[in-house]
Amino acid sequence: MKKLKGMFAVAGTTALALSLLAGCGASNSASSTGKQGASNHKIVIGFSQVGAESGWRTANTESIKSAAAADSNIELKFSDAQQKQENQIKAIRSFIAQKVDVIAFSPVVQTGFEPVLKEAKAAGIPVILTDRSVDADPSLYVTMIGSDFTQEGKKAADWMLNNIKSDGTVNIAELEGTVGSAPAVDRKKGFDEEIKDHPNYKVIKSQSGDFTRSKGKEVMEAFLKSDGKKIDVVFAHNDDMALGAIQAIEEYGLKPGKDIKVISMDGIKDAFQAMVDGKLNASIECNPLLGPTLMQTAEGVVAGKKYPKWIKSEEGVFDQTNAAKELPNRKY
Ligand code: AHR
Repeated sequence: MKKLKGMFAVAGTTALALSLLAGCGASNSASSTGKQGASNHKIVIGFSQVGAESGWRTANTESIKSAAAADSNIELKFSDAQQKQENQIKAIRSFIAQKVDVIAFSPVVQTGFEPVLKEAKAAGIPVILTDRSVDADPSLYVTMIGSDFTQEGKKAADWMLNNIKSDGTVNIAELEGTVGSAPAVDRKKGFDEEIKDHPNYKVIKSQSGDFTRSKGKEVMEAFLKSDGKKIDVVFAHNDDMALGAIQAIEEYGLKPGKDIKVISMDGIKDAFQAMVDGKLNASIECNPLLGPTLMQTAEGVVAGKKYPKWIKSEEGVFDQTNAAKELPNRKY
């Protein structure tokens, strides 16, 4: 790879597109979509979380728990799936048996949820997806609250194309998220789509690091062992894997952020610190603070309001040009 030129950044505000909710009208289907109706009992939400694999996930869990605790109309039943779909399906079945008012979950993977979603529908319990989508009949859930992962992949590629320029080949090592999960599938898709017309940018290695710091480090160590001299850029599907990769690069004797550029996703505080330290080049924001929107939507659903199929987060792009200024404002 040859010369690297200029830096660019698009700082964005993080705000959920709540305006989408403004036009939501009441429907007559409150009785078929929830049991709260006009009674005074708290709305019971059964929430199945993916696990505790990343800094992003910790912030997401905290957002959901604190938003529920702050809302006197909500009672939250929280279950941790420990990154296993079978645990998540069990938790959803248990919520159905407990006759909760709303089921919400962040799906570990995209496929395989249709049968349990049908069971929830048959029981008259509305389902709200948070963070990640599923491959299933959309009539089986009310809405999905979360990010556009394909767009995030495109933003990562755009940052690279604008900032890591070369007349020669740019070799990319990709650390993928959990196999079969929406963010892993869509971030890869968006990134690949964006670089396809730039044949000198080549993904030479690609493997899952399961969204964890330790696995990201382990996979990067293997990449460095086989191709250490060739890798120009690491594209990590989340900050935690990038932070693991940064450690591996340092232990290998190279400078992350300089000898090997590192681009990742999420925008957690540790990633901002790594950008300030010059070790991470860019982080594409993915907003985990979905709790307040989830509570608001659950209450609306029980009251019979209609929602669009996707309540999208708005997110920015951060790099070494704006990280120091933004770091003190980060909430996660
Ligand atoms: O689904 C969101 C992704 O899941 C985040 O990018 C990652 O950190 C998390 O584990």
